Amino acid sequence: MQTFRVLAILFFVGLFILAYAIWGRAGRDTSAAPVEPPPLVPVAQLTELKPVKNIELQYHQPDLPPGPGHDVFAAECVVCHSPRYVVDQPAFPRKEWTAVVHKMVEGYGANLTPDQEKETVNYLVYWHGKEDAPPASAENAR
Ligand code: HEC
Repeated sequence: MQTFRVLAILFFVGLFILAYAIWGRAGRDTSAAPVEPPPLVPVAQLTELKPVKNIELQYHQPDLPPGPGHDVFAAECVVCHSPRYVVDQPAFPRKEWTAVVHKMVEGYGANLTPDQEKETVNYLVYWHGKEDAPPASAENAR
């Protein structure tokens, strides 16, 4: 009788352990439903959603009117800077343009022969300059 009781207790204890193991496993099963990644948006649509700002800068490149010495100017004088350097200046007399052109050659290394320098000065006087005032004549001075 004693043995039967012990076996019965062991049986119920075993049953309890088994039930707890099965229930415990089910309870611990925390594997949640897989998280859905956010839907992929094509790159093209990203830019549609957030349009890139467009800034248009004004760009003014002066036209080089045809004239004597145009070709030398167009070939040699816009290598380092735009022709705006010329139109931004006052309409210099020939003497001043001669000095500027010579400064470009001597000072900054523009690649012009003396003849080309003269041609360029002609062009600058024609395009954006004026002839030197005639020297005060001896008659006027008197
Ligand atoms: C090797 C480069 C170079 C070449 C080629 C060149 N320049 Fe310049 N130019 C300069 C530099 C550098 C300056 C000065 C820029 C500054 O001070 O901001 C300048 C300035 C000027 C200016 C502004 C006024 C001044 O006196 O500084 C004028 C006008 C000018 N150049 C005209 C010409 C002409 C005309 C030619 C063709 C004969 C020419 N440049 C060729 C480099 C050059």
